[in-house]
Amino acid sequence: MAKPVSIEVWNPSGKYRVVSTKPMPGTRWINLLIEQDCRVEICTQKKTILSVEDIIALIGDKCDGVIGQLTEDWGETLFSALSRAGGKAFSNMAVGYNNVDVDAANKYGVAVGNTPGVLTETTAELAASLSLSAARRIVEADEFMRAGLYDGWLPNLFVGNLLKGQTVGVIGAGRIGSAYARMMVEGFKMNLIYYDLYQATRLEKFVTAYGQFLKANGEQPVTWKRASSMEEVLREADVISLHPILDKTTYHLVNKNSLAIMKKEAVLVNCSRGPVIDEVALVEHLKQNPMFRVGLDVFEDEPYMKPGLADLKNAVVVPHIASASKWTREGMATLAALNVLGKIKGYPVWSNPNQVEPFLNENAPPPAASPSIVNSKALGLPVSRL
Ligand code: DGY
Repeated sequence: MAKPVSIEVWNPSGKYRVVSTKPMPGTRWINLLIEQDCRVEICTQKKTILSVEDIIALIGDKCDGVIGQLTEDWGETLFSALSRAGGKAFSNMAVGYNNVDVDAANKYGVAVGNTPGVLTETTAELAASLSLSAARRIVEADEFMRAGLYDGWLPNLFVGNLLKGQTVGVIGAGRIGSAYARMMVEGFKMNLIYYDLYQATRLEKFVTAYGQFLKANGEQPVTWKRASSMEEVLREADVISLHPILDKTTYHLVNKNSLAIMKKEAVLVNCSRGPVIDEVALVEHLKQNPMFRVGLDVFEDEPYMKPGLADLKNAVVVPHIASASKWTREGMATLAALNVLGKIKGYPVWSNPNQVEPFLNENAPPPAASPSIVNSKALGLPVSRL
């Protein structure tokens, strides 16, 4: 028998019971649910990762929908518990949903929401920050200062890599990968090489136009190339950022063999999912190649790091904060709440989950739709015509 978990209740007399497994930023998401007759229960348990048993206790006997987190294991057990409690909606407060067994949700007729369209720039900005931090050795230098070791300017002190004129490699040029590529090309005048199954036409046009602009101003133009394999990117790029989704085709995409073909002084950044990199192989590679640097937001066994990683000066590590800007996190909370609310109220699904601005406008009521339901086709849900 699971122990009861502590909760905070908003609008106790609301008709629909919506549970959030974590407190989320902002209050708009709570207000939007309350205005539509929901009783909102927020788990306040001081435990970072809730177990399946904890969540079953939160769902209880009657629950219309749950807003959950990417650290939770949403599979058969939880979807059957939610369905037994009368629930028809779940939303991850994340764009990624590799923690969710969508087939299990389909089996129980539960809609699964996610939050695209609101974290693109924020995540790309963190990837850019990690690229710079690693290339210019910011964390090492910061630790050196704080340790009181700086006793004067030296020609060889914390020498890193100049980005201008180097090549940035992007693996997975979807929304976030493309936004990152633009930042690095425009901000640092880097040339682009990318690998994606789909052609990133808008990105290519942007780099072409920017190259022409630079040339017209007497500067070296930037260039782009669509690689025919991931290996081509790994071999040619100086800074490589990984932006694929995690599935069995991308598990350990970067491994001992792929690391071996990268430049010895390359920078590798990962803000996608930890298991895309074989972290044990990475630790070994970093030890053998002190000029090779990484910036990691995600880890193979989150929240843990593989042994040895924390001791390496050529690794910059941050705790999965790529989407952690106030605007984005409040927006994610809003989208997750509206995904659940939309299904409860029988609203259609928004036709373009990447164009979610109308849901984020605080000065107008949101559209009567669920912003993004990943299994809408499987469940045969109607699509909004708005
Ligand atoms: C996501 O939304 O998938 C991100 O990893 C959260 O930061």
